[in-house]
Order: sequence, then C-alpha cells, then structure tokens
Amino acid sequence: MKTAPEVVKTLIEICKTALPFSILLFSLAAYAAAPALKVTNLRCEYKTNPLGIDAAQPRLLWQIVSPQRGVRQSAYEIRAAGSEASLKAGRELIWSSGAVASDLSVHVPYAGPALKSGQRLWWQVRVWDQEGSASDWSEPAWWEMGLLDASDWKASWIAPDLSEDPEKSNPAPMLRREFNIEGPVTSARAYVTALGLYEMEINGRRVGDQVFTPGWTAYDDRLQYQTYDVTGLLRAGDNAVGVVLGDGWFRGHMGWGDNRNIYGEKLALLMQLHIVLEDGREMDLVTDGEWSSATGPILMSDIYNGESYDARLERAGWSRPGYQCEGLSGVRVIDHSKEILLAPAGPPILRIEEIKPVEILNTPDGDLVFDMGQNMVGWIRLNVRGPAGRTVVLRHAEVLDREGNFYTDNLRAADQTVRYTLRGGGEEVYEPHFTFQGFRYVKVEGWPGQPGRDNLTGVVIHSDVTPAGTFECSNRLINQLQHNIQWGQKGNFLDVPTDCPQRDERLGWTGDAQAFARTACFNADCAGFYTKWLKDLAADQKADGAVPHVIPNVLSHNTPGAAGSSGWADAAVIVPWTVYLCYGDTRILEQQYDSMADWVGCIAGRAGESHLWNSGHHFGDWLAFNTTRSDYPGATTDKDLIATAFFGYSTSLLAESARILGKNGDAVKYSELFEKIKTAFKHEFVTPGGRLASNTQTAYTLALAFNLLPADQRESAALRLAEDVRKFGHITTGFLGTPLISHVLSEFGYFDEAYQLLMRTDYPSWLYPVTMGATTIWERWDGIKPDSTFQDPGMNSFNHYAYGAIGDWLYRRVSGLDIAPDGAGYKRILIHPHPGGELEYARASHASLYGRVASGWMLQNGRMKLEVEIPSNTSAIIHLPGAQIETVTESGQSLEKAGGIIGSVQEQGSVRVEAGSGKYRFEYPVPD
Ligand code: BGC
Repeated sequence: MKTAPEVVKTLIEICKTALPFSILLFSLAAYAAAPALKVTNLRCEYKTNPLGIDAAQPRLLWQIVSPQRGVRQSAYEIRAAGSEASLKAGRELIWSSGAVASDLSVHVPYAGPALKSGQRLWWQVRVWDQEGSASDWSEPAWWEMGLLDASDWKASWIAPDLSEDPEKSNPAPMLRREFNIEGPVTSARAYVTALGLYEMEINGRRVGDQVFTPGWTAYDDRLQYQTYDVTGLLRAGDNAVGVVLGDGWFRGHMGWGDNRNIYGEKLALLMQLHIVLEDGREMDLVTDGEWSSATGPILMSDIYNGESYDARLERAGWSRPGYQCEGLSGVRVIDHSKEILLAPAGPPILRIEEIKPVEILNTPDGDLVFDMGQNMVGWIRLNVRGPAGRTVVLRHAEVLDREGNFYTDNLRAADQTVRYTLRGGGEEVYEPHFTFQGFRYVKVEGWPGQPGRDNLTGVVIHSDVTPAGTFECSNRLINQLQHNIQWGQKGNFLDVPTDCPQRDERLGWTGDAQAFARTACFNADCAGFYTKWLKDLAADQKADGAVPHVIPNVLSHNTPGAAGSSGWADAAVIVPWTVYLCYGDTRILEQQYDSMADWVGCIAGRAGESHLWNSGHHFGDWLAFNTTRSDYPGATTDKDLIATAFFGYSTSLLAESARILGKNGDAVKYSELFEKIKTAFKHEFVTPGGRLASNTQTAYTLALAFNLLPADQRESAALRLAEDVRKFGHITTGFLGTPLISHVLSEFGYFDEAYQLLMRTDYPSWLYPVTMGATTIWERWDGIKPDSTFQDPGMNSFNHYAYGAIGDWLYRRVSGLDIAPDGAGYKRILIHPHPGGELEYARASHASLYGRVASGWMLQNGRMKLEVEIPSNTSAIIHLPGAQIETVTESGQSLEKAGGIIGSVQEQGSVRVEAGSGKYRFEYPVPD
C-alpha cells in the first residue's frame, strides 16, 4: 500500500499530465504540509467575508504565498461548513470539493448544495504546489447569502404620509417604529432599501458606515438592498428604528434643465429586521402600516444643489424607544415591485478619507475661502459654536479665477451650497446627508466669529474599490499626473462611473467609462463595480439593442432616442471585455453576452449591407484639439469613419468573447462580419495610397488599434501617425483617440513620439494642466488657458477622468507591467519596460487577483536594473530592453543559474526571459 505522500505524488503526476483540461478528484489522506506554502486573502465574489451575496454559485478565490520561486498550484481542496468550529474540525461539512487537480485559484465556483437565503458558509482552502507539497488549511473565511427570492421579503413598501410639492425639493421624511424583543439577541440582520436614499439608525446608533444607500441602479428594473449585521445594536426589551429618506437620484434633480422625479414622485422604504433570540426563537420587524413619519431638520437635500439643515428642528431620540411627539403622521403601504431587488455586486460608497484645508484666503472680492489643496468629492464636515438660528453657508467651487476670486460658472445649474442653521448652546458637528460636492475651494458665509482650519474637514467619499495600482517615476510632473488620474477616479466612482462630480451632470456617460476602464482597473479592483454597472447597462438597453448615452439612463426620460453613439454605446462591449482581460472573469462575458451581441446587432442593422455605419447621432472624437487658425481649424475626425471603426472593434471583441465562451458558431459569424467591415472601411476611408479620409491622429489611431487596415498598409499608416505627431509636436486627439494613440505609437516602435506627447508641458498635453496646478484630470486640454482665463463654462469640468486614460500607457508601456496576450487576469504576465523621455526610473505595481505584480526599472551609470515581482500560480514573459544575454545577471547570478527562470533567449535588441513566480532583480550594462 502506498503512503499518503506517495498517493498525492502519484496523483500530482497524473494531474500534471491532465492539466489544464480535466479536473480530477481524488481523496486525501493526511499529508505533511510544506509550511512555506500559504493560502491567504480568501474572497467570495471579489469580496472579503461579504454579507448579502445573491449569486447562486458564488465564485471563490485565494492567493498563494511562498518564499520560493516558480510556485504553481497543482491541486486545491475547499471545504465549507455552517460554523467556524465545525469547519476547523472538518466535521458536518456542507461541501467538500475533495482535492481537485487544477491550477485554478480564482473564480472557483461553489459547487455544494443549493444555498438558502440568509445562509452563512464558513470555508477554507488548502493547495498543493507543483512538487506535491501541501499548504496548511487557510484561515477560515465566510460569506453569507442575502435574500434570494422576492417571497423572502415579508416587509411592505411604505411611504410617509406627508403632503409634499412634487415640483420642488421637499424636507427629508423621517420614519420610525418601536418594537419589543423578548429576550437576548444572538444574531440580527437588517435588509434595507428605499426609493430614494436612506440613512438608518437603531436605538440612536447609525446602522453601518455606508453612504448614498441603496446606491444608483437602473431603478425601474434593478434596485439594490443592503444587508447589515445589527446584532450589536439591539437589546432585549424596547428598541426603536429610525430612518431618514433623501431625494437622491430617484427624485432629485438629474441631468441639465429642471428635470426631477425621474423615477417617481414618492420616496419609500422597505426594511426587514430578522432577529434570532438566544432561546432559538426568531422574529421579524418589517416595514408595515404601523410606522410613523414626520419631517425634521433636513429642509432640502439634492445631489447637485446641496443641503439645507436646520438643527433646531432635530428630533432628538427619534430612533430611540420612548420618543414622544404630538402630531406625527403615519405611513401608507404602497405597491412597488420586490422582484427587482438585488444584492450589490460592487462595493459600497464610504467615507474613504479626510483632508484638512491647506490655506484660508480672503479673495479680492472679499470672500472668505478655504483651500482644501485638492479637488475632491464629498463634503465638508464642520464644527461650529454659535447662537441658535445663525445660518452658516458653504459654497463649493473647483477653481479660483485669474484674479483669485471664487469661480462657479462651470457648475452650470448645480448650486453646490450647504446651509446649516445652528441649534445653539455648544459645539455642533454637522455633515450633509444626501448630497455631494466636487470642489477644492469652500466659500464660508455667516460664520459666527472667525473660522479656523480646524473648523472644516473635507470628507472624501467614493465607491470602496480596493486600491490596486501604483506608478512612480523620476519626473515630478508625471507623478502629479498619476496623482491626478487617481483622484479623477476617486471623484467619479460613486456606484456608477460618472463623467464629472460637480456640475449638473454627474452621469454614467458610457464614452467616458469605456475610455477610462482599463486605467481604472489598474488603479483599483473594479471588477465588482463594473459588473454591477454593466447589468444596469443591459437593463437600460433599448429594444433594438441601442445603448443609452448615460447609464443609468436618466436622459431619455427627457430626450427620447438618446442612445447609440459610436464610442459611447460601445462601452457595452469594451467594458466587459476589459473586465475579462484584467480579472480573467469569463462570467462577465457570459452575463453581458446578450447585451454585447444586441449592441453589435443594432449597429449591423443600422449599417446594413454597406457595413458602413454612417447614420445617426455621434459625439465623435469629443473635445479634440481645435484652433481658430484659418489654415488648420483642428483635428476633426469624420464621424462615419469613427463609427465604422467602432463597429469593427466591437464586432471583433464580440467574436473573441464568443470564442472564449465556446460559442463557436457566433465566433465564426462575428469574425466574418468583422472582415466585411474591414473591407468596407478600406473602400470607403482609405485611399489606394494608404491615406485615411480624415488625416488626423485619431483616424490613424483607431484604424490601427482596431486592426482595420490591410497588413501591407499598417506600417505606412503608423508612419503617417508618427509624422503627424512630429509635425504638430503635440496631441490633437479627443475622448476617443486619446486612450489609444500612445499605445499605437509604441506598438509600431515610435516610442520617441509617444514620449514626446507625454513629456510636453505646453497646451495641448497631459502635463499642461499639471503645470497650471491641476490636482485632478480636466475635461478639456485647456480648461484654464495659458493666460489663466477659462474655457467655455458650459463645458469645463476640472474633474473628468477621460484624458486620464494615459495612465494605462504609463503602467503598461513605461514601467512595462502588462498582461500577456493569452494571460487574462494576470495568469500570464508580460513585463516589457520601455525607458524613454529622459526618465531615470519608473516603477509600477498592481494588486492582481493572484497577488502583487510589480515592474520597476532604473538606469544608472550605464546600467539597467529591473526589479520584477510575479505572484504565485502565474508565470511571466520578461523583456530586458537593450540587454545582451551574456551580460545579464539576476540577483548577482547568471541567468542559467537563477532559480525560477524557465528559459531565456537573445532577441533583437533585448533578451526575453520566461519566468515563474518570485521576485527577480535583473541587471545589465546598456549602450549609451
Ligand atoms: C459629458 C461628457 C460626455 C459628453 C457627451 C458631456 O456633457 O460631461 O463627458 O461624454 O457630454 O459627449
């Protein structure tokens, strides 16, 4: 009989040959663990110990940590139980995968018995490496299911019975209910959502730390609810729950003009408290006709316009038992769907950080203005002392004008004003509830006495995407650009990827989202965030497949047909594809496939037999460079060319998605369609000599990036692009060309031109706003002109991330941290740095699902040093630019001797190394 290690070894051998196509189950005997191999960072549906999961088969992932190089997982075993104790004891398991011969360590679907609403599963994993050495069982993790079925909701939708004027912002309604609990509580969950926004308290304490709940979705079809563990807030005996509702996206102002009540006129609440008592009894407290309502201190609260709060109207004790007040109103039970309820796939919006003012200014106009030092999104928390009835007014602006005065014209109709009326009698701390502002400067009026820096705190809020990317180099301005890109993302990630956070838009513009998605996925773990938004996109898609300009679609309520622009609507295909690439997530392709195909079908219908998309409304290469010069008005690219190019691109991505999903018939169909589009593009937009109908950077960029030119015309087109860059010496692209131009230049070897664009500091360039003091990315290349006057206030946001798409090039090309063509999700990594632009060093890191990936190079004294980190269970192709193989060392040794390196080969101008996981330090001389 074989010993346990022998059994495992034999099986590992079998697995090795069988991988990756088959999954082999084998039973495990006790086996000595290799202590160095550890399993950590267990997550379920991208989240750590999540409450409220509604995926029927949640996907699990873990990371493998080892001090050794070349570590690969050859098998894993997952077990799950109903409690931590039984999990650890390995008893009463609900599911055991058995040892599975597989290198899969991300997106492993739960495959145990069907999960029930509210069920919590504890789980852990152990793995075997390529040698058959085992890890210990990981630390336990858990996930808990939400309410899976509409019938799980025993609560009724309730609306406050208050008279309101639907034409204007009304005071925020408050709701309350007292209840008794007949004994000590073992556990309690609150499931909560609203039409509008809600904040909830139990017994005087805030439930959870999320803000802007329940978030923003395509409300007609999809409404998120939150799940809270409220065990610690309840007690035996009398309890009370109090909730405040806000207009939010549901019925507040949305879109320009005086549009409100987009989703309805009445706010409502749906809440269910499920309580388990120590003696085993269970009880539910739900929203029903027994609740009371009233208005309180929030007189007005609106996403764009701010909040007016009168602290004298506070209802102390509202969420505590025993609150007494004459004349409270009741509630009405209303009819609203529960079929649309869902658990959030993305992260909650939280208060993420706080910043203090850097300076207090007295402007030439005589205003008192606080400078937060950073264009930020969120609000000011103030602490103030003063007489009752005094109103402090805070106005918010992104910039000061040329004279140094407070400037708000670019906010258009968004008021961004917070008014706080003091209750008097001591220190008062206040922050607004259902509004956020985009601002760097705060104008303070009505303050009792003189405010100091301690009186105002900037509270930064955004979707709690885990930061995942760093980039740094030897150029200070580029580092500030990177900072601005990251702050642009922070300010525009509020449950929805938005265009801007300050003027009367703040909408999920699809074009901006697709332009920035790849950069966003470097900077942070955005998988859940986009998974959620893409479902909104599919929900709001028109019957003919057209994708609205903004998602959630609040525009076509007023502008019928606001859908289907090239480069915008293509977000339906580009964003899921990006999530697939960055996270190896095939489920998102499955989830979105119909939406993607419907969109391509919609364009195909519009293009017809010509395969040219030359009809309908398009935004084109939005905000591209233009001038008042009469001999060169600017870089306007023909919209038919752009539209047909995106038709081709979306079709090719769809074909590739179909191939990945095993939809072979579709893969062939869409590949053929792509070839037809390519042919049509050539006939219509390319001269026999290879010139494009629009002689612009964007035209060449799109044609090359989307592979629309015949092979024998690609080089010459790239040369034309490079020559255009040289001729102008600057970028001329708008929203559509900008994310791609530097990549295309690099792909064809024009690194000098790509660096020329990057290093430029005059308008137009990425660094020009940096030299003008920008702390976020601007909407326009010249939001502030060289003479310090402003661009057109009708379209001049200072926090618009689209041009921040250069971040992707900084990561992938400058520091060289990339995904190999066959390595979706960083399963296979490409390290390909490109020193240039007189940079002395550049380094980037990314927290991939497998663990940290890093690439950092430094040129010093004629030597190149490259430090690389490849996480366990992945492999990498590493290019050493300018290296001669015999002069390369890794951690002081020749390449043949270095552990973890699978092979190396001299190529023209560089050495290519194939490596397993580990940290590597390459060094070699480089020619001057
Ligand atoms: C938004 C953009 C958007 C555009 C459509 C603007 O108002 O702010 O970012 O993509 O409209 O062209």
